Amino acid sequence: MTFVKGDDVATKVVAWQERHGRNHLPWQKTRDPYRVWLSEIMLQQTQVATVLDYYARFLARFPDVAALAGAGQDEVMGLWSGLGYYSRARNLHKCAKAVVDQHGGAFPQTAELLMTLPGIGRSTAGAIAAFCFSQRTAILDANVRRVLTRLLAFDGDLAVSRNEKLLWERATELLPSTDLTVAMPRYTQGLMDLGATVCTPKAPRCDRCPLADTCSAFALCNPERYPVKTRKLLRRSESWWLLVLLGVEKSVWLERRPPSGIWAGMHCVPVFPDRKQLDEFLASIAASAADVRSWELPPSLHILTHRDLHLHAVVVIGDLSIGNGSDGAWFSEAQWSGVGLPTPIRKLLDNTRQRELL
Ligand code: ADE
Repeated sequence: MTFVKGDDVATKVVAWQERHGRNHLPWQKTRDPYRVWLSEIMLQQTQVATVLDYYARFLARFPDVAALAGAGQDEVMGLWSGLGYYSRARNLHKCAKAVVDQHGGAFPQTAELLMTLPGIGRSTAGAIAAFCFSQRTAILDANVRRVLTRLLAFDGDLAVSRNEKLLWERATELLPSTDLTVAMPRYTQGLMDLGATVCTPKAPRCDRCPLADTCSAFALCNPERYPVKTRKLLRRSESWWLLVLLGVEKSVWLERRPPSGIWAGMHCVPVFPDRKQLDEFLASIAASAADVRSWELPPSLHILTHRDLHLHAVVVIGDLSIGNGSDGAWFSEAQWSGVGLPTPIRKLLDNTRQRELL
């Protein structure tokens, strides 16, 4: 690890951001913490280009935190549908309610307090506090981690909490120390922009980097070595059997997923761990085998962060004795298109509809 003089770095990042950074994103036109928070949550695992549409749609429907807090969970999930990582949407809704119920409808103004809200981690709290309130507080999302570990040639494994704590301390030392009102938002955005556009994971463009002459990894001619890779998470592979039950007037049977785990709380067709259990369930609800028609679709692969899901769908039409109850219900197209469905399930239903079955 190498010593880098703090304000020198901050001054360069601020000047670079003004000239070369991204300055026209919709959430940069405001210091309203509701808008900034919404953008930061959406941007956590999603590219800017995808977020733009969702951000506009969310704001059109929920112009302020009270509107979002007052909405039903299904509507929030429905608007989020397609963005993935649905725990973000559930926490978004919970957070809006907490701001209204516990903070009188105004977001708290420090990173420490923002972090007490659902779905707001330390880095997101830092970003909101820096952008909206110019608090002198650090961020450390994946892009910024990369910039700073390279700058400092920081070679500790960040999965080890002592190393992570150390990097937060170094990130805090590097923050601007003067003119915070202007410098903090610019510096914070500047680090994000450097990570996204210059200090990229592969083939970083050090020739365009304002920090190249202070960067320890550049001096060592090996920027791509940082951040040092942590232990790889084991990926699991699973098969899921999906039962697409088609009812009268092009309805489909949907159940709600359990409150935790994959696709928690969303609507979904019934899921089984294997074909045998799907068939047993089908036999229990079909008047007789002669009364149903079923066919299997080609399997598809859906990749989640820690899991590969091999999805096998069986579509069934016929005389089915399954009725609206606590576990599920028949949904018309107008109903299923408005609720939160996992992306592969939405695609499955869209495809089925295109074949005029739904
Ligand atoms: N990623 C996370 N926050 C961001 C922001 N404010 N602008 C662009 N990309 C981001």
